[in-house]
Amino acid sequence: MCGIIGFSSGGNAGYNQGNCESSIDIVLNGLKSLEYRGYDSSGVAYYDETENKIKSIKKSGKLVNLSAELSCIKPVKSNIAIGHIRWATHGKPTDVNAHPHSDCSGNIAIVHNGIIENYAVLKNKLIVKGHKFITPTDSEVIAHLIEDYMKSGAKTFYEAVRLASLDLSGAFAFLAMNADEKSICAVKYGPPLVMVNKDKEIYFASDVSPLIQYSDEVIYLKNSEIAYFKDGLLKLTDFKGKTLNKTVTKIDWDASRAVKTGFSHFMQKEIFEQPSCLLDAFSSRIVSIKNSSDSFFSGFKIMLEDVRLTKKDIDKAGRIIITACGSSYYAGLVIKYITETLCGIPVIVEYGSEFRYENFPVSKNDIFIGISQSGETADTNSALEIAKEKKAGILSITNVPGSQITTMSDKGVIYTHAGPEIGVASTKAFTTQIMCGLLLALRIKEIKDAAAVAGKNLHGVNFFDEIVNLPKKAEQILFLNDSIKEIAKKYYKNTNFLYLGRGILYPIALEGALKLKEISYIHAEGYPAGEMKHGPIALVDENMPVLFLLSNNMLAPKTISNIEEIKARGGKVIAVADYEPDIDGISDIIKIPTTVEVLSPILYTIPLQILAYHIAALKGTDIDQPRNLAKSVTVE
Ligand code: F6R
Repeated sequence: MCGIIGFSSGGNAGYNQGNCESSIDIVLNGLKSLEYRGYDSSGVAYYDETENKIKSIKKSGKLVNLSAELSCIKPVKSNIAIGHIRWATHGKPTDVNAHPHSDCSGNIAIVHNGIIENYAVLKNKLIVKGHKFITPTDSEVIAHLIEDYMKSGAKTFYEAVRLASLDLSGAFAFLAMNADEKSICAVKYGPPLVMVNKDKEIYFASDVSPLIQYSDEVIYLKNSEIAYFKDGLLKLTDFKGKTLNKTVTKIDWDASRAVKTGFSHFMQKEIFEQPSCLLDAFSSRIVSIKNSSDSFFSGFKIMLEDVRLTKKDIDKAGRIIITACGSSYYAGLVIKYITETLCGIPVIVEYGSEFRYENFPVSKNDIFIGISQSGETADTNSALEIAKEKKAGILSITNVPGSQITTMSDKGVIYTHAGPEIGVASTKAFTTQIMCGLLLALRIKEIKDAAAVAGKNLHGVNFFDEIVNLPKKAEQILFLNDSIKEIAKKYYKNTNFLYLGRGILYPIALEGALKLKEISYIHAEGYPAGEMKHGPIALVDENMPVLFLLSNNMLAPKTISNIEEIKARGGKVIAVADYEPDIDGISDIIKIPTTVEVLSPILYTIPLQILAYHIAALKGTDIDQPRNLAKSVTVE
């Protein structure tokens, strides 16, 4: 979704294309780091010190178009610039509709992420006052509104921005720059805004990825806050004008994790990072206490200190409600299965986008778990707002420190520790979410059952050895890359796919189908295998590959019957299996290592990611930034 960048050096101006990096170069580089969010046009506005005015360059399409245009301008001295990549909501993705937008005078430029819901009302009022609009966008209204407050007596640019912010409704994060004052303001109400303030310079961005090269100490703006930077000085206030103290957050993301390091795509790199990400997700969170008699599972303990749940909380709640969207929702379905299996607590999983419009009865005793890679998904966070209003407890599983979801989570945050995920399609974020959900379920069981289950193994296996060995097994699946690529070559011209799984593997069928459609644009559906004959079987013919997730458990004979039903109708069967099934006529088998049932979804996911990746690569799609998709969905 839209991405915002801003920079001001608070004095020293550099020349673009010169020896020192100018604000334009910094902003353009920042936009490159945000490209992964998904966008359709981009633009930059900069203060030209020689001519004492703001100039803008905006282009539809990919950032290379903007770069090419910027490389044609003559060297310019500039110490303030803002930039934007746009994911169109109001108005087509054209040059003119791209951000930045200006006021009538051209002295103000803004970039905006979110939706101004009352823009039409504000725009009509401003038109009556003589303002001239040149785009149908909601965002342009911000520039004119600030201009209007400047004209009607606001003493500073900051004051005009503050008053304008109070008039806006919807969700917005924006930067506004002013040529007269040579200042820049950042405003947040909904979508994320982060900044780095050091050496009399300020850097703003929609997320930390463009900032980590400058500092690992960032300041997250909270809702209803404004940052104002002028002459090298930063002032932070709320919308009422009250001065606030800065809270600096240390980011432990390594900037090198945001580069491709020899892989063709970020998605491929992120698939291959999974063994180490899974290790990072659990390594400091399970500790061996082998000689203790009161330990829970075979001498290990779950260390999730940040989970502030008591036995009383769990008993009073009697259920858990998970809310999430997209792949994170599917991780939620897996975590439901794990939690119900291990803890015997019923779990309800709700789409964030649906929950806010349902009449779901929420009680103050409820425990909610929000799952979100970005921590900024508007739909998920708005569902959690409802929970918060009802005084329910909130936990979250997220990848992004300091993100909005973390600020709502009074009962604790479990970080996935996956590092920056640049590919739009979720891969390592998904598998580490499941790992964290498993750890959380184990912790909930520890709290709930305390000494009652001390020293027991689960399901008769050494459960913790299984966790510790999982990264190695994930790595073994990565060695199947070439053979999965061969399978991809057979099927990439098909136009429909069916993914089927049962029990805990059903959500993985959904995830596998989502991955394929997202990056290859092939239509794919995930279904519980048992539901196939209740409808989808009508689609099956020789042109319909059906991918089965087959596990050597009590459900295997039933799934094998489903395979027979597909074969009988001429469908091509691909199986991902943790054993050699005794059945003829499977066209392709991807054999993966075995593990305990509750960990198996992680292993079954990886070949599906690799298959989707190779099919997309063969089709030549834009794998890291698939059409129409955004990484961080900060609007409803
Ligand atoms: C799928 C994908 C999306 C996200 C969804 C939620 O590959 O990436 O479906 O899972 O938009 O995003 P987060 O997890 O950031 O809340």
